[in-house]
Amino acid sequence: MLTITDLEKAYDSHQVLRGVSLSMEAGERVALMGPSGSGKSTLLNCVGGIDRPDSGDILLGTDSIVAMDERALCQLRRDSISTIFQFFHLLPTLTARENIEFPMQLIGLSEAERQERIDELIDEVQLSHRADAMPEELSGGERQRVAIARALSTRPQLILADEPTGNLDSTTGTAILELLQTLSDRHKTAMLLVTHSDDVTHICHRTVHMRDGQVQPADAAGDTE
Ligand SMILES: Nc1ncnc2c1ncn2[C@@H]1O[C@H](COP(=O)(O)OP(=O)(O)O)[C@@H](O)[C@H]1O
Ligand SMILES: [Mg+2]
Repeated sequence: MLTITDLEKAYDSHQVLRGVSLSMEAGERVALMGPSGSGKSTLLNCVGGIDRPDSGDILLGTDSIVAMDERALCQLRRDSISTIFQFFHLLPTLTARENIEFPMQLIGLSEAERQERIDELIDEVQLSHRADAMPEELSGGERQRVAIARALSTRPQLILADEPTGNLDSTTGTAILELLQTLSDRHKTAMLLVTHSDDVTHICHRTVHMRDGQVQPADAAGDTE
């Protein structure tokens, strides 16, 4: 489903990605670990079409993300790849329901279809009772549940999550991870999750370690699996 080959990226003279290669199957969950500054967010941003690599390729199915123009990247971010952030990034002036609805408006789903999906998703993230709340009225865990429902609303092939529990206490974080696992299985959505937490690796099929802009071989990274 996703094939990353020899990705390189530098900021000025600082080489951040040094030939990263990584493949993911449809529906697979991969944990991406590594020290701060090792290039994890940069890699996610390149896959999500927010940032551009200098060389190498990223194929989603048979489509090269690297070769896409801005218009195609916009469409990619709307239709195929959703992102979940550490600090939720909900729109502050929209209710929980409206935040979930927003990406579906962008892809032009009908009112009836949007309302049906919102009802289903808000129930799946157990927030039906908070549907009309504003983000500032919600706890961190509740905000992340809204963000997860929003990310799933367009039925993407892939969700990118950059430290999705990094701003939550451990009990809330664990609940969010269990939810991500359940929903990714149910909706058959692949996930690439950046994390510092071993908890995240438990809900993933596989863990990949990065260091200095490179993916470490599994044995060198002390992977015990
Ligand atoms: N927009 C940017 N401009 C300049 N340097 C950047 C930018 N984004 C990231 N970097 C640098 O790239 C390196 C890797 O960053 P990042 O991908 O965020 O690492 P990680 O997510 O693993 O902590 C860091 O040294 C960071 O300072
Ligand atoms: Mg980062």
